[in-house]
Amino acid sequence: MGAGIVEVFARGGVDVVAVEITPAALERGQATLTRSTDRAVARGRLTAADRDALLGRVTFAVGLAALGEVDLVIEAVPEQLDLKRRLFGELDRICKPGAILATNTSSLSVTEIAVATERPSQVIGMHFFNPAPVMKLVEVIRTVTTSTEVVEAVEALCARLGKVDVTITDRAGFIANALLFGYLNQAVAMVESRYVGREDLDAAMKLGCGLPMGPLALLDLIGLDTAYEILDTMYRRGGRDRRHAPAPLLRQMVTAGLLGRKSGQGFYQYA
Ligand code: CAA
Repeated sequence: MGAGIVEVFARGGVDVVAVEITPAALERGQATLTRSTDRAVARGRLTAADRDALLGRVTFAVGLAALGEVDLVIEAVPEQLDLKRRLFGELDRICKPGAILATNTSSLSVTEIAVATERPSQVIGMHFFNPAPVMKLVEVIRTVTTSTEVVEAVEALCARLGKVDVTITDRAGFIANALLFGYLNQAVAMVESRYVGREDLDAAMKLGCGLPMGPLALLDLIGLDTAYEILDTMYRRGGRDRRHAPAPLLRQMVTAGLLGRKSGQGFYQYA
């Protein structure tokens, strides 16, 4: 999602430092950004000059050292609490005083991430949706320690980026994922039990319920590994609600490397 979030900010006229941990990952992110902005030009949504200006606002870097002078960091690493807590500890040391540290976590506790720093009042959740350049919503998650000034600054930033924010407190899955993931998990269970085939299931929800895509296609878009991690976290944080116990098929597909669009195959095959 990092590349999508970078695009949102650069489109909004903000200078961005895009950081990855390896040169290969950085190259993949750059390619995603180029593909997405080229498509916008091809569709007449962006002029070639505006695309060039947009790309000109992005600096690419490997490693956190490039983040010393930024005003806001948005972290989008995999959904693992230990990893995020370690990263926020490092960001706290590297970033200038006053910089806001935001996490794009979908289901982990923003509070637990905040207390890994010496500046919990400046830590907040900014949860974007896939694909970030298209989806209008940002869930803004304030913890018991987030300062009101930081919440207001982030809300104002969302408006500047053309997003609609909803501000909520720190609860597993926040609003959208708390409602969405039980449904996605149930869809996998239906296919797993051979009650219905994948195309029929997706067609039912798309054509019968007016959704832009069926749940299996959506899982492929989100990434099956990410979906698994979100479900697993919600299951453990949300009182072991059976709706969120990840369907065994989901786990098997992740183990087999069938991660959805990002790996070329999930419930569907991608070119
Ligand atoms: N990056 C950038 N732009 C993209 C894109 C991407 N990955 N995918 C599509 N777009 C753009 C297209 O360029 C197009 O833009 P224009 O209208 O300006 O030309 C627009 O989106 C529509 O795309 P398409 O015509 O190709 O396809 P579509 O009409 O079927 O829309 C979709 C594609 C926007 C993905 C739509 O199917 C959709 O809204 N799906 C549901 C997505 C959803 O539910 N997201 C939330 C997932 S949950 C989540 O993200 C939370 C979490 O924590 C995991």
